[in-house]
Amino acid sequence: MDERWEALKRECMGCRGCALAQTRTNVVFGDGATDAEILLIGEGPGQHEDEEGIPFVGRAGQLLDDMLEIIGLDRTKVYIANIVKCRPPQNRDPLEVEQTACMGFLRRQTALLRPKIIVCLGRIAAKAIIQEDFKITSQHGQWFTRGGVQMTAIYHPAALLRDESKRPDTFVDLKSIQAKVRELCTHTEV
Ligand code: URA
Repeated sequence: MDERWEALKRECMGCRGCALAQTRTNVVFGDGATDAEILLIGEGPGQHEDEEGIPFVGRAGQLLDDMLEIIGLDRTKVYIANIVKCRPPQNRDPLEVEQTACMGFLRRQTALLRPKIIVCLGRIAAKAIIQEDFKITSQHGQWFTRGGVQMTAIYHPAALLRDESKRPDTFVDLKSIQAKVRELCTHTEV
């Protein structure tokens, strides 16, 4: 990892910018390739992520890995981060004030990565990144451009675990992401 990433990670690991710092076990900074062309953004760490300090390592993470594999991706070809880097107690949604306190880290990760494509995983990330009134049930799989970057949102893998009827739609969305990777990415084979 280059020095700019190291410095950002160091700062994030020591952050006490909101109340989640009091209950976390580990800060979950991010995972994947720091030269990836694709950035995946989740909501926030759950119990397993909090214990291990790595995003998407629980059951939802297993499913995310399977979803990536369907379209020829894996964690060496993407970067994975969350809106909030510390676990909200009882896995509740992160509060506005927590999201705001943490957003600078995601902004700086995005600035260092300069991704071609951003994929929001679930409603919370889509609302924070694409548009405030984003409706995941009707707008998943649609493409948006923000600051010259193409972005979309798909159902969160935890939602797909709870409700398997959402999986066919997600398969279509994944194929759309694969097509977009082929169109825009220069060093990502899928
Ligand atoms: N859910 C998320 O949104 N992020 C994680 O890192 C794990 C589960």
